[in-house]
Amino acid sequence: MNIDELETRLKSKPRIVPVVTFTALDQVEPLIRCLVEQKIEVIEVTLRTNIGLDALKLIKNKYPNMLTGAGTVKNNASFKAAEATGCDFMVSPGASQSLMVQAASSNALLIPGVMTPSEIQQAIELGYRLVKLFPASIAGGPSFLKSMHAVYPEVNFFPTGGINVENRDEYLDAKNVVCVGGTWLTPIEYLEAGDWGRISALLAALN
Ligand code: 3PG
Repeated sequence: MNIDELETRLKSKPRIVPVVTFTALDQVEPLIRCLVEQKIEVIEVTLRTNIGLDALKLIKNKYPNMLTGAGTVKNNASFKAAEATGCDFMVSPGASQSLMVQAASSNALLIPGVMTPSEIQQAIELGYRLVKLFPASIAGGPSFLKSMHAVYPEVNFFPTGGINVENRDEYLDAKNVVCVGGTWLTPIEYLEAGDWGRISALLAALN
């Protein structure tokens, strides 16, 4: 997959990426089944717990059609570990130069995180045209995105941080937004309780 193909897939409806922090491996398959049932074929698995990498491997092995991203990739070691899982893309909260250079010289697709015009320019200089805006609500939300479109029309955004079912359309209506992401669809307490009914209801509310 190249970056254009990734962007096309992220743009497909409902243009929402569930950002999921698994705390046990047995949460993975039931959640993927809920997502597939609701026709959501994308997931970002954060590397905030020590089972994140195993969750990515499991998803890529058993559900190869699922567009699977590794989240919270924040240094060169986690980049390498995520790459080895066979995930389709990686998302970083920040835009460190060494991570962006490392990713640019590999086949892995990195979406670096930005919050300021300077960070956007650093990403552009290293060849990036798709970036994460994080934390989107604190960065200035849809009006910040609109301002960035005026000066960096070549850059598209994947905002996360403070996005929910009520405000997602304000973001999705921005010309430079490919998709939005968030944790509101998969609260850890529901994952830990195995409350797939509640998670399915949150996912169904997207349609
Ligand atoms: C992320 O990793 O992208 C964010 O933590 C998601 O932010 P949220 O919890 O506000 O959705």
